[in-house]
This record gives sequence, C-alpha cells and structure tokens, in this order.
Amino acid sequence: MAGSVIVVVGTQWGDEGKGKLVDLLSGEADICMRFQGGGNAGHTVVNDFGDFKLHLVPCGIFNPDCICILGTGTVVDPQSLLEELQTLEQHGVLARNMLVSGRAHVVMPYHKLLDQVEDEARGAYRVGTTGRGIGPAYTDKVARIGIRISDLLDEVILREKLAVVVQRHNALLTNIYHQPPLDLEELLSQALAWGRQLRTRIIDTIPLMRLALRAQKNVILEGQLSAMKDLDWGSYPFVTSSSPTAAGAALGSGIPPRDISRIIGVAKAYSTQVGTGPMPTELQGAEAENLRKLGGEFGATTGRARRVGWFDAVVTRFVTELNGCTDLSITKLDILDNLAEIPVCTAYRYKGELLNDLPDTAQHELCEPVYEILPGWQTSTLEVRRLQDLPYNARAYLDRLTQLVNVPLHSVGVGPHREQTILA
Ligand code: GDP
Ligand code: IMO
Ligand code: MG
Repeated sequence: MAGSVIVVVGTQWGDEGKGKLVDLLSGEADICMRFQGGGNAGHTVVNDFGDFKLHLVPCGIFNPDCICILGTGTVVDPQSLLEELQTLEQHGVLARNMLVSGRAHVVMPYHKLLDQVEDEARGAYRVGTTGRGIGPAYTDKVARIGIRISDLLDEVILREKLAVVVQRHNALLTNIYHQPPLDLEELLSQALAWGRQLRTRIIDTIPLMRLALRAQKNVILEGQLSAMKDLDWGSYPFVTSSSPTAAGAALGSGIPPRDISRIIGVAKAYSTQVGTGPMPTELQGAEAENLRKLGGEFGATTGRARRVGWFDAVVTRFVTELNGCTDLSITKLDILDNLAEIPVCTAYRYKGELLNDLPDTAQHELCEPVYEILPGWQTSTLEVRRLQDLPYNARAYLDRLTQLVNVPLHSVGVGPHREQTILA
C-alpha cells in the first residue's frame, strides 16, 4: 500500500472489530492516528504481544516503526493515557512513538463527574454513556472553554482558563447536582503534572502530516464507534459527541478529504450495541443470551452486556453510503459457525409500509425488521485463511451481505487473533 491514506470506520453501533483490523493493517503503516473520540473506545487487539483492550492508544502501536498519534479531533484523559502506555510497556510494547496533538482537548476529572450526573438527569433520553467524560469535554470545546493539551505546558494560561471553567462548573455541580465544589489549585497541580509527563509527546501535527503526505507515507486513520452514534447522523440523542465518519476523519486529522484513498467500513456478521437507542433486529431472552455467549459480547470499556441482534443491512448500507466506503470488512463470521439458519434484515416494515432506507430516530424505534433466512454452514471457519476454502454457505452469506450493502469485500474475520483474517 504505497502512499495511501486509509480510513477505518465502524458501520453498525461500534465494537465491530476495528481494532483488530487496524492492528493488522498497521504492519505496513508509517502513521496510525485516532481522529475523534477518546477513552470511550475499547479496541481489542490479539497478537503475539498478548491480548489488549486499547482505549486511547491507536492500534498501530504494535509496529515499532509506526508513529501513533492522538489527533486534534480527540479528547484525551492524560491519566488514562499514561496508565495505558505503562501497561503496554510492561508487555514489551515500545510506546516511544506515541504522540498527542497539542490541539486535542483534555478530559478533566470534572468531565467524568459531569458525564455521570448529566446522563442520569436525562431521564427517558438517557444515553448510557461510557462515563469517560466524552460528552462534557466536547461540550466545553464547543463552548470555547475547553482545556487543550498544549495548555498543560503553560501554568499561566492554564490557571487563567481553569479559573473560568471551575467557576462555571461549580455553579452547576453544587446547585443543580448537589456535588462538592471543584478545587482550582488541586486541578491545576494535577494538570501541570500531566503536562510534565507528556511534554515530549505533545506535537503540532500539521508539519508532520504535511511531510508524510508529500513523502507518500502510509497513513491509517482509526475510527472509533460508528456513524450510528454520530452526533449529526446517528440515532440522536442516543449518540456520542463527535463524528465517527470519513468526513470526521479528514476534519479531526487535518488531512484534506481529497488525500483519502480508501475507506474501509467494518461490520460484524451480526449486530451489537451498547447503550440506548433504536435497534430493530435486537433479540431478547434465550436467543439473545445464546448469541451474546457465542460472541463474548461484553463491552471492552465498561464490561456491560452488549445488546445483540441479527445483521441489519439497512443500517450498514446507510452507514457505508454516508462514509463513501470503498471496502467492507466483515468480522466474527466464526461466531455463526454452528447455527442452522441465520436471519438477515433486508428492509423494515413501518406502519405497514416497506422501508429500504433508514428513517430518523423516532420512526426507527418503531420499525420491524423484514428478514431473509439464510442457511448456516455448521462447520468451523476458525482455521480458514482463503475465501475459496470457506464452506459454500459461508461464502453465500458473505456474498449476500456485500450485495445488500453494495460495497466490495475487503476481508473476513474468523477469530480474534490478528492471523485469523481472510483477505479478499
Ligand atoms: P472495536 O471497538 O471495533 O475495535 O471492537 P471491540 O474490540 O470492542 O469488539 C470486538 C470483539 O470481537 C473483540 O473481543 C475482538 O477480540 C473480537 N473479534 C474481532 N474480530 C473477530 C473475529 O473475526 N472473530 C472473533 N471470534 N472475534 C473477533
Ligand atoms: P468503540 O470504539 C460501543 C456508546 C455508549 C453510548 C454512546 C455515547 O470500541 O467501538 P459516550 O461515552 O461516547 O458519550 O457514549 O456511545 N459508545 C460505544 N459503544 N463501542 C464504543 O467504542 C463506544 N463508545 C461509546 O455506550 O451509547
Ligand atoms: Mg470496542
């Protein structure tokens, strides 16, 4: 892949297996950058170094020649980042190439507190956030009172900015949420300590990316979540506070849209979601238990049981079109190995009408899935490494999904390990 910018995005509700794919592709990458989100991500990588759940560090970190960057569009909890880097180093992973954009925003301790109390207060519109302070950190950014990573290096600026934020949030925290007030000096000394520890990793990404593009380097832009949780295009208000799309990748990385060469959408062979929001193919009871158990569907960040259901082609088609996906990576095919029959949602029924397109949140909530039942293959695919060696019905299943979504197949996941991947 000489001189390419590849964007990897989810095409369902997150947790599609983006981390595994980014780890694999990063073997040939010069730069791997996260462009939005923060510690709400839980990207699982299983390779010869071990089994990792990365929240902030990009999944290119296992290639010592790959520069990993937390881009300008991200929100970074410095304490979590430092702890994650320490864990990686304890496992023999060199993290010296890990950099952070000085323009990225800081997730402060009060953002995590606000995340919890504000989500509780949403009542019926509770999002079920990861509690990592993501929404409040982006809220401060938009309100133009956010603390940027580069601010951690300047005591005078930091004191001035924190004084404004603390006054504002204290009014809210003490009066509305009945929490103890924040202490300016305590926050300041904590934040300055983070600045000292991260100093050598903080950069202006613009010159670096400019040089990389001119020198035809291979860049991977690692998305978090999926457009179903996009602030504008997802199931609002049951969304995150950033844009996990290819457009968001250009914005958050500072790479011009025309320099993006490929956009790989990642889709699980079935559906999962964490948190609230519509999910027409969601299963209940024993059927849900069974699929959840087969897929090990528990959140990588919060450990919550993920909601599970059948593949929803309406959702994935919507997301891949929105992103302009050039490729589709289907993961966790092996999880369906033992099933006799596999339903696939091809359209919705809404108030008696047949819908092929995704409606907005309130109508989506009321949609009923129209299923096509495909035959299972009831053979293990864990050891398969070439498309032509897959059982006939597994090939037919993949063919049907790519036909419904109308994006060519890039790869297929047949197990959690990096090696358990079939490249199409
Ligand atoms: P991400 O957030 O998109 O990176 O995905 P997560 O790591 O949250 O969730 C994906 C889960 O599926 C992780 O436990 C992965 O180890 C696992 N996984 C990814 N691809 C495959 C696959 O093809 N087969 C199996 N069995 N597990 C996979
Ligand atoms: P990865 O990158 C799955 C969900 C939360 C909640 C909503 C908003 O591993 O795919 P937030 O904390 O962002 O304000 O929560 O989004 N959510 C995720 N679900 N995978 C993730 O990340 C998620 N990050 C956030 O459950 O519904
Ligand atoms: Mg995840």
